[in-house]
Amino acid sequence: MDFYDRDVVSIRDLTREEIESILDLSEKMVPYATGEKVNRVLHGKILGNLFFEPSTRTKLSFESAAYRLGCDVIDVSEMSMTSISKGETLADTIRMVDAYCDLIVLRHPYEGAARLAANFSINPVINAGDGAGSHPTQTLLDLFTMRQAKGSLDGLNVVLVGDLKYGRTVHSLAEALTMFGAKLTLVAPDSLQMPEEIVNHIKEKGCRPTKTTSLEEAIDKADVLYVTRIQRERFPDPAEYKKVAGTYRINNTVLREARRDMAIMHPLPRIDEIAPEVDSSEHAKYFQQAFNGVPVRMALLCAILGGEI
Ligand code: CP
Repeated sequence: MDFYDRDVVSIRDLTREEIESILDLSEKMVPYATGEKVNRVLHGKILGNLFFEPSTRTKLSFESAAYRLGCDVIDVSEMSMTSISKGETLADTIRMVDAYCDLIVLRHPYEGAARLAANFSINPVINAGDGAGSHPTQTLLDLFTMRQAKGSLDGLNVVLVGDLKYGRTVHSLAEALTMFGAKLTLVAPDSLQMPEEIVNHIKEKGCRPTKTTSLEEAIDKADVLYVTRIQRERFPDPAEYKKVAGTYRINNTVLREARRDMAIMHPLPRIDEIAPEVDSSEHAKYFQQAFNGVPVRMALLCAILGGEI
């Protein structure tokens, strides 16, 4: 698969075969991601990490991935610390950062910002989350984690629960899982259901998702329960957030209905949607999932920047 010099803006930019090749490469990266093996194959390259929205996992795992491969990192964590605060456009900012590095990773509050950046950058751009749009590298590490937990991605019964309207991780994930023949159940309050544009897209690709507000109806058949946070910061009206906050809480009582081998995943951060008592259960895969961001992002950096391991 030829990933050299390519943008990764949407999971729609990748085929099933390309996703599988990144997951295979990610598996090879695990001993390098833990530091057990060392390879500085990207020595001399520079990653520009622009995070204009808060992040713990995505930002730090991209940095860790880069450093593990010998790649240097320049970064900005706040828009207010750039000349955007003086009125510079995102397009001009991207042109500048493009001149200082070999690959741009961008997180931005506005949907479509990564596509715009890719249009203005000569070097490749990776979308690290654009508002309520998409988060394709999260999807790659989610698929990697599911494959680890379930052995295969084919035909999984996956329940997506929580904020499916504003949750960019589930937008990208629903589209990717459709490529692998998943049976999807979309569990959300009516006001937070998956956007019609995405539902129509996955239907065109052959998926027949079931929509419900009831987690109890769906949990017993799930191979994977993918939980998301209801994101206060995305609601234009705080009163609307209060109506749906705390709708779903996964605890050991709820899990009595689940298959013993059901995997629970969450892109994190969590607030109260998964009780801490679940963390020690065999179901809990979300911390392993967060670690998997390192090998998966190492694989992407190598594939795009041309480093062979
Ligand atoms: N999963 C995820 O995107 O986490 P961060 O917001 O901490 O990067």
